Amino acid sequence: MKILVTGACGYKGTVLVPKLLERGHEVVALDIMWFGNFLQPHPRLTIIEGDVRDVDAIDLSGIGAIIHLASVANDPCSDLDPKLTWEISALATMQLADKAAKAGVKQFIYASSGSVYGIKEEEQVTEDLPLFPITEYNKAKMVAERVLLSYAADMAVQIVRPATVCGYSPRMRLDVSVNMLTIQALTNHRITVFGGAQVRPNIHIEDITDVYLHLLDRPELQGIYNAGFENLSILTIAERVKAKVEAEMAVTPSNDPRSYRVNSDKLLATGFKPRRTVGNAIDELTSLYVEGVLKDEDRFHNLKWMRHRLAK
Ligand SMILES: NC(=O)c1ccc[n+]([C@@H]2O[C@H](COP(=O)([O-])OP(=O)(O)OC[C@H]3O[C@@H](n4cnc5c(N)ncnc54)[C@H](O)[C@@H]3O)[C@@H](O)[C@H]2O)c1
Repeated sequence: MKILVTGACGYKGTVLVPKLLERGHEVVALDIMWFGNFLQPHPRLTIIEGDVRDVDAIDLSGIGAIIHLASVANDPCSDLDPKLTWEISALATMQLADKAAKAGVKQFIYASSGSVYGIKEEEQVTEDLPLFPITEYNKAKMVAERVLLSYAADMAVQIVRPATVCGYSPRMRLDVSVNMLTIQALTNHRITVFGGAQVRPNIHIEDITDVYLHLLDRPELQGIYNAGFENLSILTIAERVKAKVEAEMAVTPSNDPRSYRVNSDKLLATGFKPRRTVGNAIDELTSLYVEGVLKDEDRFHNLKWMRHRLAK
């Protein structure tokens, strides 16, 4: 199948695209390339440096499925420029969905976020609970989900609410919790934990990219799916890192109240099985750092890099 992946040069896309190619698909990778491009050339891969907001320029001829990953991809970056966030996450998603439905695209897979739940006391946060998004990032994701569901009669709409992702990608993100705490321990032998009590679900990058493949193979699975398998407090993650990499730990106050644990039974009931853990991610990152493959670069910290770009 010919598949359009937006945000394809990002952390997830850089792991997902080679998996799609391995399975014999033809891939069009569209990305504005804020963080560069780490995808390797392949005869069935077309890489386009472009903006999803320029929907008229997106060629959907022959596209059977869209995996829509492009967004300003975390809370602090979204707060830097809320207008940009809404234009990309909500408006461009609506325009892309509308164009896809008219072009006869059969399947639309969307990377929403587990953070749409906001703060939740419930032990089992399932897909049917009301959403209380707190930040611009979460609010725009929630609106995009609702827009997409309105196209469910035209194409298979599959929305994933991923947990925080961990593990290695050639386009690395060192601003997500497990990766951030691990790189701090590796580079400074000191971990700074903001708050610590907040509970967040986690998912390994190999598993989240496998979730997209799982849904791609099963267009009959429509609607919303949580995807997160280890609900851990930030302090617990820090302790797991500390158990593997020698480091001191400092706990400082946090201004980020988001705390929730997700239940992914709906996804598990479709036959999906996660194969990796937070512990695997910490081990892999540590080995790659020691081998010199993983480096602490500014462009791997989304907020630092976006600030730098906006200042320019
Ligand atoms: N990584 C996580 O922990 C996580 C968790 C939940 C949801 N998500 C969602 O998954 C998706 C992918 O996240 P990621 O971790 O790979 O983030 P990322 O920042 O590494 O990748 C996002 C990519 O989108 C591109 N992009 C941004 N605006 C664009 C535009 N207007 N046109 C074209 N490309 C554009 C960026 O250049 C970047 O390469 C995002 O939508 C994110 O919100 C990520």
